[in-house]
Amino acid sequence: MRLSRRDLLSSGLALSATALASRPGWAQGVASPAEKAIDVPAPAIHAVAPREQLLFDFGWKFTFGHGADPARDLGLGTGQGDFAKTGEFKFAKAGFDDSKWRALNLPHDWAVELPFVRDDEQQSHGYKPLGRRYPETSVGWYRREFEIAESDLGRRIWVEFDGIFRDVLVFVNGCFIGRHNNGYAPFRFDLTDFLAYGAKNYIALRVDASFGDGWFYEGAGVYRHVWLTKTDAVHLGSWDSTVRSTVKTNSATLALATVVQNEGRQAARARVSWKIVDARGATVATAEAPAQPIAAGGSLEYTASAELATPALWSVDEPNLYYAVVTVEADGGVRDAERVPFGIRTAVFDADKGFFLNGQPLKIQGTCNHQDHAGVGAAVPDRLQTFRLGVLREMGCNAVRTSHNMPTPELVEACDRMGIMMMCETRQMSSSPEGLTQLETMVKRYRNSPSIIIWSIGNEEWLLQDAMAGQGARIAGSMVEMCHRLDPTRVVSAAVNGDNEKGVTEAFDIVGFNYGEERPDGFHGKHPKRPIYGSETSSAVSTRGEYATDSLRNLMSSYDGVVPWGKTPEAWWKFYGTREWEAGGFAWTGFDYRGEPTPYGWPSINSQFGIVDMCGFPKDYFYYYKAWWKKEPSLHVFPHWNWHGREGDEIPVWVYSNLDEVELLVNGSSVGRQKVPHLGHVEWKVRYEPGTIEARGFSQGALVLNVKRETTGAPATIRLTADRTEIAADGEDVAMLKVEVLDKDGRPVPTANNKIGFKVSGAGALIGVGNGDPNCQESDKEATRSLFNGLAQGIVQATGRPGEIHIEVVKEGWEGPELTPAKLVITTKAVRARAAVPVVRE
Ligand code: GAL
Repeated sequence: MRLSRRDLLSSGLALSATALASRPGWAQGVASPAEKAIDVPAPAIHAVAPREQLLFDFGWKFTFGHGADPARDLGLGTGQGDFAKTGEFKFAKAGFDDSKWRALNLPHDWAVELPFVRDDEQQSHGYKPLGRRYPETSVGWYRREFEIAESDLGRRIWVEFDGIFRDVLVFVNGCFIGRHNNGYAPFRFDLTDFLAYGAKNYIALRVDASFGDGWFYEGAGVYRHVWLTKTDAVHLGSWDSTVRSTVKTNSATLALATVVQNEGRQAARARVSWKIVDARGATVATAEAPAQPIAAGGSLEYTASAELATPALWSVDEPNLYYAVVTVEADGGVRDAERVPFGIRTAVFDADKGFFLNGQPLKIQGTCNHQDHAGVGAAVPDRLQTFRLGVLREMGCNAVRTSHNMPTPELVEACDRMGIMMMCETRQMSSSPEGLTQLETMVKRYRNSPSIIIWSIGNEEWLLQDAMAGQGARIAGSMVEMCHRLDPTRVVSAAVNGDNEKGVTEAFDIVGFNYGEERPDGFHGKHPKRPIYGSETSSAVSTRGEYATDSLRNLMSSYDGVVPWGKTPEAWWKFYGTREWEAGGFAWTGFDYRGEPTPYGWPSINSQFGIVDMCGFPKDYFYYYKAWWKKEPSLHVFPHWNWHGREGDEIPVWVYSNLDEVELLVNGSSVGRQKVPHLGHVEWKVRYEPGTIEARGFSQGALVLNVKRETTGAPATIRLTADRTEIAADGEDVAMLKVEVLDKDGRPVPTANNKIGFKVSGAGALIGVGNGDPNCQESDKEATRSLFNGLAQGIVQATGRPGEIHIEVVKEGWEGPELTPAKLVITTKAVRARAAVPVVRE
């Protein structure tokens, strides 16, 4: 039977096995990022005809293998000779029975589906049973059939993986094709010789997540996209096209370069042309490199230049993009083409004056982030990247650091489109062949992206900074040299914690400091010519909606929670935000992430470092940044005002605001008006009585904003909202649901921890849930979830068939009166879906 992609998607088969399936109005009146966000188009693929780049995500089968027992690992490793002869691997051939395997679509992270285990060794990875001590849950097999047309004979055909965690063996049509051994760099294999043309083909992947790369949650499985790419034998090299701009007063010169490879059996005469297209699709410049002969099996570099009058520069406020359409013609016909997005901008670090974008001073208001999200783990749908960046942008964050690994392409592209700068970091600080290959891949893959302003070759390599400082200098030197060679336009650095006087730092263009605010002043005095920035700062820890540090309940106070080596947002920004020579810095972290539950352990399963929680719900620290990182007037008062049983107790009331003065009123009576210190906050101590606290913010004596917190009643109804109520029916797009519990007067109850259930039907499914509680061990994949301090999140994904997704949220097993379920309809609209490999089933 041959099912179309659309059939498969609408059958539900396309969705992850657990058929889990509304606009978050943000706490305290903050608009949802999506309310304001530009409507970001579906992620672009960059193949241009005649090249085909087909999404290879739909219609896979999955089963667990075994890390120790060959009998439970499709027989692999039973004895000697597994790899003795070509073509004998039965699981990658016709006739192999995978009917009992689970049907799923990629991206897929099986770690997020596993239960939590109380094992301190697994703490930093989020207490998931992964590693050599958990052989039954650390190896996964993916399998898929696919057809290759007879007419493809003569083309080059690659399978391309954007990232798999972690060690993978790839088999096609019984043949072993290759292996890849790190969790973050993309890789590809040329399948041309191994395919059956005009017939069915079989691919199997053995993914082994026994080894980790980092000290944080990393997921497991094929957690990024897979592609099947077909080109002519004469084609452009992989990530070889570059566009470098020199900005002049009213124009820009573009230096264009690419490489053409001739994998045919005859010499070819190939020429290359470039078409520069602006965001509206208008051609604004063209260039050509003349025809030259390329021997069979050879390759050749082509260069040209183009002038652009009055270019629209890329900036954080106006992220203008251009596209270079690069086309190869040989012997009279177009052989290959690709579309390279780029931006025109200057980015300069100055030792005295900090960072300049397009000649304008700009402080880096950055956050470090890992890549996992509630409900989905590391398998983040493309649209969710936009959502996450939207949350960060809402508080004025203008840059992200991809700690501590190469990011997924959709994150980089979302930063390019949304005007968010990036410090792009590789995983291994090493000049070994593996380390350099990872770095080379990262720089080549992303060097046209305007959002990237810094290449980072690593993080906190204690030994290379100290005991092995000599090796450190040489290793970093080789890595920096490689970055400069592949991309002479960007600075290279790393995140250094400790002594920046020796070791790796010698090699850097700009010097990054992790923590230790006592060091940069002295370093600047001693090395006045070296630009400096905060590569990692803060490490404040707070639990959303909690106001006391409680080590029995693993909670951190939202007023001033911080680890011993860290600083509150206010403390670090008062340092970095007030020194002209500091380019700014990256706070640890924007989002909470799984693993590293510092300063606690079990039952905490995720970090509390986030300025927003695992779902993206803001903690109070969010509003400190919003006040001082954004220009628009802002006012936030906390805590909530539901302190039943604490009547008469003194409760600290804090306000984050960038207005001149703030007055606090309790039940209508003023308790004082205070000047807001620059980059600071104001606070009062108030005896609790139920009612209302109100903050009034003044600028030059005039009332500009007021916000209230009211004592609410008991939960009476459920409210369900979504970030978007119309999404694409492409099998990929998602809507982010927010669930709140309201009292009888319609006020969200900030302390509500009630359990709710999602019922999703129609043109979509629930793919994950969360609530931002670092101590919650409920499954990310069940259709139920407890609220945590008033909030829960669900993620629904569209099928490929346009229609309506019907969502109902019901009360799930709690005492009290029946509540009317909250209902919401999300419309999924027909769109031109990305070209995909058709799904074939026997
Ligand atoms: C840093 C490290 C981060 C994270 C953080 C927690 O030293 O680079 O990955 O562990 O500490 O404070």
